[in-house]
Amino acid sequence: MNWYNEQTDNDLSKQQEILQTCKLPKHIGIIMDGNGRWAIEHGLTRTEGHRQGIESVRDIVKACAQLKIPYLTLYAFSIENWKRPSSEIGVLMQLLEYYLRKEINELHQNNVRLISIGKISSLPKKVQRLLFESIELTANNTGLTLTLALSYSGRWDIVRATQMIAHDIRSGKLAPEEITEEIFSSYLQTAHLPDPDLIIRTSGEMRLSNFLLWESAYSEIYISNKYWPDFRREDLYEAIKDYSRRERRFGKISAQIQSELQNMAVFEINKKAEK
Ligand code: IPE
Ligand code: IPE
Ligand code: MG
Repeated sequence: MNWYNEQTDNDLSKQQEILQTCKLPKHIGIIMDGNGRWAIEHGLTRTEGHRQGIESVRDIVKACAQLKIPYLTLYAFSIENWKRPSSEIGVLMQLLEYYLRKEINELHQNNVRLISIGKISSLPKKVQRLLFESIELTANNTGLTLTLALSYSGRWDIVRATQMIAHDIRSGKLAPEEITEEIFSSYLQTAHLPDPDLIIRTSGEMRLSNFLLWESAYSEIYISNKYWPDFRREDLYEAIKDYSRRERRFGKISAQIQSELQNMAVFEINKKAEK
């Protein structure tokens, strides 16, 4: 199934509008929350909420690929989620396996590169194998980089990085004075990903719940009141439009940002004129 042939005219024109009028984030991170509450409100079991959540994953991944967003990171299972009832964990692992088996060929056909972050060795062996096969299959793809955060937590990754740095110092590969933010970042599992520009959380909760703690230092945060199973591409478009209206100052003042933007525009005009 080619994702670029199956769009409705209505959706194509919405995407065209976004492409023409918005500054797109390079990396979107999503905290997919609210599956359980969605299910309870529909008189269903939590399992059904997780199952329905997969439909939202499909739609959002496709929409990001169609918009040519380079990086999408989905927080699917936190280290803290291991504290949930074992029956729910079992269902989530089964659904992960189901998603990978069912989707990997279509992801591959559409040039998606799948990667994962998190303590993958904690996942059931069968899921680990499937995950590694999927990652290997799509390793050379050049479209959307889809990162699944599985058994992931930001603090876990920071501690893990610190341990690796300590080892390298002990073995003489690194000196303490050489540690900079860049060096530290290079020890994180997200080393090859740009920091997320936009972090979306669904279900109205206003917290990060241990997602990309180091990397989100200057991320724009967008909270949707919809539960994850109800969050679809139109909601993503709203989040991108909202992001695009924000002024990212990175500690500077507004006037500096405005003059930088102006200089950039002049540079672009000159570059075009030279051609
Ligand atoms: C998100 O939905 C899925 C995971 C955390 C795995 P939840 O299961 O957290 O749903 P709520 O927040 O209880 O509604
Ligand atoms: C965050 O959701 C983790 C994922 C979406 C995977 P949780 O439902 O686990 O977060 P809390 O417990 O409400 O903070
Ligand atoms: Mg939750």
